[in-house]
Amino acid sequence: MQKEDFFLNKVVVVTGGSEGIGKALIGSLINSGAKIATCGRNHQKLEKLKSDFPEAPLFTFNADVSNQDEVKNFFDCILNHYGKIDILINNAGISMRAEMQEVDVEVYKKVMDINFMGAIYCTKLALPSILENRGSIVNISSIAGFRGLPGRGGYSASKFALNGWTESLRTELIKKQVHVMLACPGFTQSNIRNNALNHAAEAQQESPLNEEQLMSAETCANHILKAIVRKKRTLILDTQGLKTIWLNKILPGLTDRLVYRFFYKNDRLIK
Ligand SMILES: NC(=O)c1ccc[n+]([C@@H]2O[C@H](COP(=O)([O-])OP(=O)(O)OC[C@H]3O[C@@H](n4cnc5c(N)ncnc54)[C@H](OP(=O)(O)O)[C@@H]3O)[C@@H](O)[C@H]2O)c1
Repeated sequence: MQKEDFFLNKVVVVTGGSEGIGKALIGSLINSGAKIATCGRNHQKLEKLKSDFPEAPLFTFNADVSNQDEVKNFFDCILNHYGKIDILINNAGISMRAEMQEVDVEVYKKVMDINFMGAIYCTKLALPSILENRGSIVNISSIAGFRGLPGRGGYSASKFALNGWTESLRTELIKKQVHVMLACPGFTQSNIRNNALNHAAEAQQESPLNEEQLMSAETCANHILKAIVRKKRTLILDTQGLKTIWLNKILPGLTDRLVYRFFYKNDRLIK
């Protein structure tokens, strides 16, 4: 089936849609005739999103996915506005960059609350309508959810948790005709590295990677949407990441050393 036919008039909730992959998903979904609801913490960024798509059926709401009351208000308003939900994409997420020795443990809590608990709160509220419409739940994870990455312990932990819970959920829903997918982008152009929390829980405001060399958010979004149409189980969007996952299963000790070599120079974390 063509993407345009599949998404036409479907109500799709994309959490964290004001930037990066979420915004690219929204742009492509609007072109495919979907009706969108999204949330974010920063009001100005949501206003900018609306002004970028002035005519589109795009419902925006200020909500932090780690705040259960705000998430409840968001989903009440979506159901009031559109009357149903077909697809939920748990995309909102933040990263971190700090080693265990220096990090304030609040960073771990914040990352877990947003990346993991945020997805739980949203799914719990969307599930009744998704069950009724035999829709999809898509959790945006990462290669870091299959292989722990240095300097990103809280991020890896949150994505491992997301991966495990996604399997549980899919198995629970196996007879209910609800599609549950895990999508794992590789390094993708976005603001995630600028927004990543440093050891003191402040945005680090720099990217240690050359963003221009990474996959564009638009390409990443199109792969994710095609995989939803095909009802894929897992989508891994990075060949190097896929190799790392397999090597980690077969030779975990060697993978420790290779991952160290990728992220460190002269025993200093550089990425
Ligand atoms: N880019 C990559 O290389 C990459 C790789 C693998 C996986 N991913 C995953 O892809 C997803 C999207 O990341 P991205 O790269 O597009 O990041 P991004 O450019 O930083 O965008 C993140 C979006 O999520 C929103 N957000 C963050 N925290 C939120 C919260 N507590 N409540 C509601 N919205 C929140 C942000 O808006 P506000 O700041 O206004 O809240 C923003 O719209 C994440 O789950 C990330 O882990 C990204």
